[in-house]
Amino acid sequence: MKNYALVLAAGKGTRMKTDIPKVAFPILRKPMIEYIVENIEKSSVEEIYLVLGYKREVVEDIIKDRAKYVYQEEQLGTGHAAMMAAPVLSKLDGNTFIMPGDVPLIWYKSIDRMFAVHEDNGNDFTIVTAHYDDPEGYGRIVRNEQGVIQRIVEDKDANDFEKEIKEVNTGIYIVNNKKFFSLLKSLNNNNAKGEYYITDMVELMKKDYKIGSYMIKNNSLAMGVNDLYAISKAEKYLREYINKDHMLNGVSMINPETITIGHNVIIEPGVTLNPNTTITGDTVIKAGAIVGPNTEIHNSRIDSHVVVRHSLVYDSIVREGTTVGPFAHLRDHADIGTHNRIGNFVEVKKSSTGHNTKASHLAYIGDSVVGESVNFGCGSVTVNYDGKLKHKTEIGDNVFIGCNTNLIAPIKIGDNVFIAAGSTVTKDIPDNGFAIARSRQVTKEDYSKYLISPKPKKEE
Ligand code: UD1
Ligand code: CA
Repeated sequence: MKNYALVLAAGKGTRMKTDIPKVAFPILRKPMIEYIVENIEKSSVEEIYLVLGYKREVVEDIIKDRAKYVYQEEQLGTGHAAMMAAPVLSKLDGNTFIMPGDVPLIWYKSIDRMFAVHEDNGNDFTIVTAHYDDPEGYGRIVRNEQGVIQRIVEDKDANDFEKEIKEVNTGIYIVNNKKFFSLLKSLNNNNAKGEYYITDMVELMKKDYKIGSYMIKNNSLAMGVNDLYAISKAEKYLREYINKDHMLNGVSMINPETITIGHNVIIEPGVTLNPNTTITGDTVIKAGAIVGPNTEIHNSRIDSHVVVRHSLVYDSIVREGTTVGPFAHLRDHADIGTHNRIGNFVEVKKSSTGHNTKASHLAYIGDSVVGESVNFGCGSVTVNYDGKLKHKTEIGDNVFIGCNTNLIAPIKIGDNVFIAAGSTVTKDIPDNGFAIARSRQVTKEDYSKYLISPKPKKEE
């Protein structure tokens, strides 16, 4: 018997008040639905079905062929969404893990435990519940005196007595395919919202089949996200789990509550992270690196003993022993060599540098290939854009670029070149060359009196 998963993700997420479909909304810069699919993939589930509707192409673009798609044209409720998959799933032997697409913190180990409870107890329908001191917004689990589940009542449909119930429906279920999906079509929409509720399956199933439950102890893992406030709460929980894991693994964090680390980031033991640091995407930070404060790193590799302070690093590599910042910006496949110094107000875009190169202050390096031991003086610029096209700059090894130099691309500077400060270099410079490209200075003695009137002397 195979295990399947069905994720209900067709809704717009009206309460979010954004245009992005709710399940595509990012948590720590990663769409909610990706967390869910990733965890289902890690569980014993073999095939994933996603029910999509509102802006389905946005979700498909994220998940691609990792799931099979079922469409719900009109969003008539969670029960109706599940009906869209019934023609397929009712024919497949096995059990299906059903969950809403807005419960992003679900953990793969919990999924496997749910399957185990479902099978060990011989259930046909297992309802995953959680206990909340403030259960507002969730469906409540109504049990009889013997503790047997009688029905699930939605918050909107609950009476005062039912509203006091603190055991809630997480929206997660394990069902026996044949029994559950063939009964599903008998649902009706007689309720406050006029929708087909999947939760009404309790009353339909309880006559002939075995219903059981499984309570998730760590209720934050089962939280449903309906609005942007809940997104911030989910982010907070996730941040805490992730940071704790890294700290226990030997990553030192100063003020961890201000540090945000994405789900897929790899940080080696022996890294120090300073306050207000956000590291996301497919980023790797190697041992001995110091990152932050006030730094953002996304989809990048930071090698050992690199220091990055007050800076932005996007889609880039910083090699061993290099220091970056304060206030540097590396982006678009910048590849910074070993033992470089990329200092204050330096931007490097789509460029590589060799070992021991330095741009200590106020420089722009774009579309360039730079060799070893190059020194960019303060204010030097690779002039890569002519208003229409971007052009390349090539710089050899051991080049000294004086302050305020413009290198007008396309241009090639050889090895061991010296460029005088203030030059606007428009032609290639061969190896061992010296170039100066600025107008000569004119000095007129005793001339300033025509230009500035002498300041009156202050009386004592
Ligand atoms: C649902 C449950 C509630 C539970 C809560 C847990 C029902 C009726 N209620 O309420 O008992 O406590 O989840 O988080 O099931 N969806 C569709 N098509 C639709 C409607 C919804 O695909 O026509 C999807 C949504 O995209 C969403 C999920 O189903 O991902 C849940 O829908 P939502 O409207 O958020 O249900 P809740 O009101 O939270
Ligand atoms: Ca919800």
